[in-house]
Amino acid sequence: MSVQYQAVGWNRQKKIYDSVLVAGVVSYLAIFTGAGFFIYPTATAEALLIRAFGTLALLLVHITLCIGPLCRLDRRFLPLLYNRRHLGVTTFLVAVVHGVFSIVQFHALGDVSPMVSLFISNTRYNSLANFPFQILGFFALLILFVMAATSHDFWLHNLSAPVWKRIHMMVYVAYALLVAHVLLGALQSDTNVALAVLLGLGLLAVSVLHMLAAANERRIDNLKTRAAAEGFVEVCDVAGIPENRATVISVEGERIAVFRYDGKVSAVSNVCRHQNGPLGEGRIIDGCITCPWHGYQYLPDSGASPPPFTDKVPTFRTRIVGDKVLVHPCPHAPGTRLEPALIESSWVRAIQ
Ligand code: HEM
Ligand code: FES
Repeated sequence: MSVQYQAVGWNRQKKIYDSVLVAGVVSYLAIFTGAGFFIYPTATAEALLIRAFGTLALLLVHITLCIGPLCRLDRRFLPLLYNRRHLGVTTFLVAVVHGVFSIVQFHALGDVSPMVSLFISNTRYNSLANFPFQILGFFALLILFVMAATSHDFWLHNLSAPVWKRIHMMVYVAYALLVAHVLLGALQSDTNVALAVLLGLGLLAVSVLHMLAAANERRIDNLKTRAAAEGFVEVCDVAGIPENRATVISVEGERIAVFRYDGKVSAVSNVCRHQNGPLGEGRIIDGCITCPWHGYQYLPDSGASPPPFTDKVPTFRTRIVGDKVLVHPCPHAPGTRLEPALIESSWVRAIQ
């Protein structure tokens, strides 16, 4: 949609999301520093703050990385995905406090500039125990900065979706740098069992969830479609698609979202124009397919966003034969209106 696009009607949800996020951040910092004074009575306030902000940033990175696969596995997690960019920006802000405090604490008292000191004070790259782990944190922070700075839709439109996506996939590089930052840093100088266990559990959760989500996607892609007449393929029974929802099928690598609404069936590409969100996991709100990620909307019969917006997705022909929904896998140009298949009124009554 246009740069000025406003997601429709979910502003209350957005406010709740941001309030929960801020409350979570403040509570974590208060509990960590409060408990830290008792657990480590000799630790300075600066050291506690560095640790509180560092561990919180790492926790937020884990949450960000887990939300994507969780939503692919279970739609109930979708509210977490909405506004995930605010989570990303918050992660950067928390991480920058940790980074700046660390640089001031460990590099500000020398006779070279703190930033120069960060890079030259330790060059023991051949030592695991004394590796210059702070430099790894610096590069992770740089990636978080680039992601936070380009998170607005302005950049998505100006950089193009593929470039934007590639930039944001760098979160995995940042994650690898952070794991190394902690393994080669805090865990070398300090036998902090809790941090080691949490890092291990986090790594396990991120890896397992990504593998499960990938297996789920492969299962959808590998479902055999049954060919029907004139190039159409069978999707499912009419009753297999809940009202105002979709079923997604994959034909020759193309995912198609087949929606049922108001006694009709229409099919569009499953890929949202905004950030490739899965349209088939959204629902029809106010007559429009509404992307579950950030609320972009498309008319189900034409795949076009309602005016004044101009975004469009490809559409596919649909048919209903007996109780079966069929779709033709050949995409029509984005925005092409196709007559929806009509569900016989006796069927509508039977499945309601
Ligand atoms: C310029 C960038 C960074 C610098 C200079 C830096 C520096 C440091 C230092 C000196 C420590 C050891 C602190 C101590 O044990 O007292 C540390 C630990 C840590 N850092 Fe960083 N860091 C940077 C970036 C990051 C980023 C981006 C993250 C996460 C998103 C992060 C997460 C952590 C964590 C989780 C620890 C372990 C905390 C603990 O000791 O309990 N750091 N960092
Ligand atoms: S609205 Fe953002 S991906 Fe669809």
